[in-house]
Amino acid sequence: MVITIDGPSGSGKSTVAKIIAKDLNISYLDTGAMYRVVTYYLLENKIEINDQESVSKALSNIKINFVNQDVYLNDINVSKEIRAEEINLNISQVASYFQVRNFLVKMQREIGQVQSIILDGRDTGSVVFPSADYKFYFDASVEIRAQRRFEQNQEYGILDSKEEIKKSIQRRDYLDCNREHSPLVIPEGAIVIDNGLMTVQDLVQTVLRKVKKI
Ligand code: DC
Repeated sequence: MVITIDGPSGSGKSTVAKIIAKDLNISYLDTGAMYRVVTYYLLENKIEINDQESVSKALSNIKINFVNQDVYLNDINVSKEIRAEEINLNISQVASYFQVRNFLVKMQREIGQVQSIILDGRDTGSVVFPSADYKFYFDASVEIRAQRRFEQNQEYGILDSKEEIKKSIQRRDYLDCNREHSPLVIPEGAIVIDNGLMTVQDLVQTVLRKVKKI
C-alpha cells in the first residue's frame, strides 16, 4: 500500500504521516528530508548551488539512509543539521533541478516498491506515485503553518522568530509552487484537507477513516 500526503511547509504532513505509519504498521518516508540532505551536502562541500552541472556531478557522492526517525548522509546522522535556516534559504534552488529530482524520485520509488509506505512532500502524489492507493493534500493558513514550524523548530533547538519563519515559508511557498519541474500542485484525485482549525487527533482520524473505510 502507498499513501501520499502533499502540501506546503507546516501543513501537518509529517506529524500526521508518522502517526498513521505507526497505526498501520507501515514505513514513513520524509521526502523533504532527502532534499534537505542533498542541500546540506552541497553547502558543507562548498559546491556552487547555482551551478547546475556541479550540483549534478555531486549527486553520485551522496548516500541517504533512514534509521528509525533519523536521516543519515554517508552514514552520519544529520537529522538536526538539515533543519537549519541556511538549508531553508538554499533548498528551493536545489529542489528546482531536474537531476536532483530524478535522483531522489528514483530512490523514493525503490523504497516504495518493496514495502508499504506513507510518504510526504510536494510531488509524492503527482509525480512519485501518481497511482498511490490514497492521496491527500494538506493546507492551512501561513500564520498557522509558521506557528507549527516555530514549535517544531524548538524541538531541534532552532530559535528563529515566528516572523522570520513566516517570511521564509512564504518565500518557499512561492518558489515551490512556481518552479518548472514538479511544482507543488494538488495531485489528481487527492483528498484535500484544510486543517488549520483541526487538532492533530481529528486530522489523523479523518485520514484513517478514508484509508480504513470506517
Ligand atoms: O517538507 P520540507 O519543508 O522539509 O521540504 C523542504 C523543501 O524540499 C521544500 O521547500 C521543497 C522541497 N521538496 C520538494 O521539492 N519535493 C518534495 N517531495 C519534498 C520537498
